[in-house]
Order: sequence, then structure tokens, then C-alpha cells
Amino acid sequence: MDTRPDLFDPLEERRALQDTESKIAISGHPLHAMLVAFPIALAFSTLGADLLYMWTGASFWSHVAAYAVFGAFAMGVLAAITGTAELLLVRGIRNRSSSWTHFILAVMLLSLIGTNWIIRIGDPDGAVLPVGLALSLVMAGMTALTGWHGGKLVFDYQIGTKAAGSERS
Ligand code: HEM
Repeated sequence: MDTRPDLFDPLEERRALQDTESKIAISGHPLHAMLVAFPIALAFSTLGADLLYMWTGASFWSHVAAYAVFGAFAMGVLAAITGTAELLLVRGIRNRSSSWTHFILAVMLLSLIGTNWIIRIGDPDGAVLPVGLALSLVMAGMTALTGWHGGKLVFDYQIGTKAAGSERS
């Protein structure tokens, strides 16, 4: 005979926890998803420009890297503001541990991007080798991890999406 108490799934029991639909959105399109493309693309562009500087020695590429990493930081902060607003305002997002994992990854990533930008101020050429390039390599890896995890939130856990059959427009 099975003597275990009845098991229950809190997400099934409490309907409010099912609500994971994005609130920071334009006509249902989450702003966070629109913004994250910029820091992701610019972080990888920074690494590309650093490698081209190492290859050619042309100061043009170290300047491209410095501008790209500044753009990655500025757009990353905007993406983080919209993501954090979702996290705090939407109950179903706030209550899922994977959302907080993504938050921690993103804050670590933004610190790396910010550091990589600050070390280049005033001396874009001298900052690239070896510290700038090393930071760009770690930054690109962290960007891939954070972006992959963000995609997991949406495509595996349906975070930020409208529940199937929802009547809201
Ligand atoms: C504090 C910072 C952040 C928080 C709290 C956060 C939170 C979230 C949340 C709640 C979602 C689910 C979709 C939505 O509700 O919009 C999401 C998706 C996503 N996040 Fe973040 N995020 C943060 C920063 C970042 C950063 C810096 C990146 C860039 C690497 C990023 C990459 C992604 C990606 C790629 C998705 C999937 C978007 C899609 O395909 O629709 N997030 N994030």
C-alpha cells in the first residue's frame, strides 16, 4: 500500500503562478526580447574587433572594440531594466527559480561588459592586449550562456509568453 501523503504541484494549484505573460511589452511583444539582440551582437563584435586589432595592429580596430563594448554595456543596461521590471512585476516570472538564475547570470555579464569598457577609456590601443582580449573572450562566453538561458526561459518554460487559450489580446 502507498503510504506517502498526496503530492501536489504548487504551480498547478495556484492559478496566479501560471501568469507568466510579459507586462513590459508593446502590443504583446516583450521589450526585453527586442533589446537583448543589441548587447549580444555588440559583445561578439567587440571580440571580433579585438582579434582584428591583434591581427593587423591597426588602431581603427581597437577604437571599434571600444565603441562596441560601450554600446554593449548601454544596451545591456536597458535590456536589464526591462528584464528586471518583468521579474518584479509578473508573479509567475518572479516565482520561478530559473528567472532568478537568469538575473544572476545577467548581472555578472553586465559587470564584465562594464569592466571591459572602463579599461579602454583613454587608451583603446594599450587596453586590448592582453587584458581587453581576455575579458572579451570571457564576456563572449558569458553572453552565449546568458542568451542561451534566456531562450530556455521562453522556449522551455514559456516565461514571458501568453498562456495557450488566454483571452487577453
Ligand atoms: C537583470 C537582468 C535581466 C533580467 C531580470 C532578465 C529577465 C528575463 C526574462 C524574465 C525573460 C523572459 C522573457 C520576458 O519576459 O521578456 C528573459 C529572456 C531573455 N533574456 Fe533576459 N534578463 C536580464 C538580462 C539579460 C541580458 C543582459 C541578456 C543578454 C545576453 C539577456 C538575454 C535574454 C534572452 C536572449 C532572452 C530570450 C528572449 C526571447 O527569445 O524571446 N537577458 N530575460
